[in-house]
Amino acid sequence: MNPWLLTLVLAYLLGSIPFGYILVRLFLKQDIRKTGSGNTGATNVARSGKKGLAIATLLLDLLKGVAAVVIARHIAAAHGMNTEDMAAAAAAMAILGHIFPVWLSFRGGKGVATGLGVFLAISPLTTLCCLAVFIVVFMIWKYVSLASIVAAAVFPVFAFLFSHGNVSPIVAASFVVIPAVIIFKHHSNIQRLLKGTENRFGKKKEA
Ligand code: G3P
Repeated sequence: MNPWLLTLVLAYLLGSIPFGYILVRLFLKQDIRKTGSGNTGATNVARSGKKGLAIATLLLDLLKGVAAVVIARHIAAAHGMNTEDMAAAAAAMAILGHIFPVWLSFRGGKGVATGLGVFLAISPLTTLCCLAVFIVVFMIWKYVSLASIVAAAVFPVFAFLFSHGNVSPIVAASFVVIPAVIIFKHHSNIQRLLKGTENRFGKKKEA
């Protein structure tokens, strides 16, 4: 199989594993898509009141992102190809898999934890800076969605700053497109934030 095709398909399939959905199904016998915001990510799992399930979802969604990038680098290296280009493309596919999982009629999460995972593997310093931004915004306003949106928005700024613009077009595109997709997936959160009806973290109220 063509190494590019193999990497992209593997990354999509890894990203599409709906850990939040699986854990809530297994332990609470519920469909996470029918509760809270309907998001399959850790924030919505936390609304079930089960912190352990939310943390497990966060870690597993993050780890599948790391795994997609690590596997992509190995495949690229084995074929004498550009490892960072392959890693960036795999990152994008893992995010798409998480947001649009084939197993759940293409209705998954918003890409934040998986984005954290892929970018920790691609650009750790940038990602840690964005995590710091996330924490500050969250501590002030207590909205996970707002913190995610702001952290995603500043990602390209830090990424280009730290790489001094010294990245390939594919890697540069991943720095912009992935955060843009994550922000776009928060469109309903943005509407609720503007209306003042967004759920603060810890509140179980339906959106
Ligand atoms: O990780 C997604 C988060 O930013 C928002 O989640 O469930 O409040 O839409 P949710």
